[in-house]
Amino acid sequence: MTQPELAVDLCGVRLSNPLILAAGILGTGAELLERVARAGAGAVTAKSCGLEPRAGHPNPTVLDWGHGLINAIGLANPGVEEMAAILKDAKGRLKPLGVPLIASIFAETVEGFAEVARRVSKAEPDFIEVNISCPNVAAEFGRPFAADPDSAAAVTKAVKEATHLPIIVKLSPNVTDIATIARAVEAARADVIAAINTVAGMVIDVDCGQPILANRVGGLSGPAIRPIAVRCVYEIYQAVDIPIIGLGGVVDGRDAVEMIVAGATAVGVGSAVYYRGVNAFGEMTQEIASFMVEHGHKTLADFKGMAHERLPKSSETSEV
Ligand SMILES: Cc1cc2nc3c(=O)[nH]c(=O)nc-3n(C[C@H](O)[C@H](O)[C@H](O)COP(=O)(O)O)c2cc1C
Repeated sequence: MTQPELAVDLCGVRLSNPLILAAGILGTGAELLERVARAGAGAVTAKSCGLEPRAGHPNPTVLDWGHGLINAIGLANPGVEEMAAILKDAKGRLKPLGVPLIASIFAETVEGFAEVARRVSKAEPDFIEVNISCPNVAAEFGRPFAADPDSAAAVTKAVKEATHLPIIVKLSPNVTDIATIARAVEAARADVIAAINTVAGMVIDVDCGQPILANRVGGLSGPAIRPIAVRCVYEIYQAVDIPIIGLGGVVDGRDAVEMIVAGATAVGVGSAVYYRGVNAFGEMTQEIASFMVEHGHKTLADFKGMAHERLPKSSETSEV
């Protein structure tokens, strides 16, 4: 049988396979992004950057709690000026490999997002991912922009006006109705939606009676959150027409297939790098290909969104 086709077209940008390195997973260096690209990623996302350099939270910042990770890195980053130089370097390394580069940005105000987007655009990444899960300092209680459809749309609109590049808006699962937020960012002209960022959580060391992370609260990622992520992707797919990058807890090829069946066009991979190393990308691509051969699928489109297809009515099912 001929090898199945794993390439993806995301807003006119070609990915040789659907697996994308998720934001923040491998520090900030261009060398690391190149390493992931050489290991077989379809695209790579850089660490989120803001206007100014940030040290992030004190240690401990990451913990493997047995069913996934919990982290409170606190968006440590070198600031947009240095990040633009890193992105330029990364772009030069990735271009010959044919692996697209996604910049990731955050800010504490709508205007801040536009400014970071403007400066990051000079490095010519293929996309800008907009991380709206950080707190909006302009809001009364510092709620994340992703928690409210108007705030999410305001950031999307401002970034869209500040750059010529396609933008990916990354949503948070920590909301009651993610479909409403997805509709709002689509209406504000987001090109792609990424879902999900981490799930808010806490792990306590009962012997000392204190949360383990210095920041006390953190974000859950890895296997424990996959069903939450799949449900979010499923609901977003029903709500919007723009492509979705599904991520959260994908650690093998079948998990990636599950995201695509829920409606994702591409699949983000984060914590799996912690569990499997960078070779996860090449291995998982092979696992997806094996699944496709087994099921007679020639392209990813053969099963994308399959979970939404109408179940046969009981009157249509054949008698056994
Ligand atoms: C250590 C760590 C750092 C992260 N940093 C960022 C970040 O800078 N920006 C961002 O949008 N998401 C960040 N994330 C979230 C991931 O990109 C991803 O959305 C989340 O971990 C779920 O995917 P996973 O289960 O495959 O890890 C981070 C996650 C981890 C574990």
